[in-house]
Amino acid sequence: MKDNHFITLAIETSCDETAAAVLSEGRTALSNVISSQIDIHRAFGGVVPEIASRSHLEQINRVVELALADADADFGDVDLIGVTQGPGLVGALLMGLATAKAYALALDKPIVGVHHIKAHICAAYLEHAELKPPFLALVVSGGHTDLVRVGGYDAYTVLGRTRDDAVGEAFDKVARALGLPYPGGPAIDDAAKDGDPSAVAFKRVFLEKDSLDFSFSGVKTAVLNYLNTRRQAGEAVNVADAAASFQQSVVDVIVAKTLRAAEMLGETKAVMAGGVAANSLLRRALGDACREKGLRLYSPSPLLCTDNAAMVGAAAYLKYKEKGADGLDLDAFPNLDL
Ligand code: KG4
Ligand code: ZN
Repeated sequence: MKDNHFITLAIETSCDETAAAVLSEGRTALSNVISSQIDIHRAFGGVVPEIASRSHLEQINRVVELALADADADFGDVDLIGVTQGPGLVGALLMGLATAKAYALALDKPIVGVHHIKAHICAAYLEHAELKPPFLALVVSGGHTDLVRVGGYDAYTVLGRTRDDAVGEAFDKVARALGLPYPGGPAIDDAAKDGDPSAVAFKRVFLEKDSLDFSFSGVKTAVLNYLNTRRQAGEAVNVADAAASFQQSVVDVIVAKTLRAAEMLGETKAVMAGGVAANSLLRRALGDACREKGLRLYSPSPLLCTDNAAMVGAAAYLKYKEKGADGLDLDAFPNLDL
């Protein structure tokens, strides 16, 4: 390989995907390998942290070797190693960090620790060569629901965030109550395709006027109460209708707040990021709303929205160019702030 392109090897193990990717010039993914643990955790209805750590340990070297092979590269081509250092499950993060440090030491190459949420936002750079800050970013994942102003390649200001459940968490909890399999987000997305989004009027929580914060625990509780009431009355629940109605109420709030944030800041570009950005209704609804308001929306492919290492490579490259390398004393931070 090696045509003098700068090669980044990236590793992501913050939750339940063991992932590695190889990037050229920090912007082009030559490979993006994701080994999902979903089948392992499904029996438990959610991610079991100890099992996640063990499974990362078992898979990570194989996944890195596959990523290099897919990119037609080998260890000698690597110029930089990027790794997620938080937020996430501490044991899971440590598996990726220990692996990345071992490679950095053995290859005598620089290492950079990456913020998982910044990485989600950086996913948008991979498919859009023209994208550059400033822009507004909507981050919707299993652990986060944030509206962020990206003022520069390493300048992030949180404008609003959830005050209780993250939106992905609400999807997962509602899915469980509806008897849908883990992970709940994609299951609700699927079930909703056969449902009527106006069947049940679940509340939309907007909080104070012009607040860019979110709250999803109310709508989650409303769905649980609705299900209990129906079941106690011996009435059948139409799962597709309930899923579609829940999804619509959540998407309505997210779209409205994203547009309001863009308007308040005078932004002309918006990026959607995180696992819930793979949701088909959110992609369609936000796409339509942005088009109507003349706002350019960047929505990474669903595979780049959910956890992956290509996004980590993009973030690592940018951080390395702005701030240089980290030391081998790099640590894991389960609650790392933006
Ligand atoms: O970003 P991500 O892969 O991991 C975290 O950093 O949390 O996001 C995972 C979350 C889960 O809650 C999952 O249910 C949700 O993203 N998700 C979806 C969809 N695909 C993944 N939610 C709604 N619709 C989807 N299609
Ligand atoms: Zn994530």
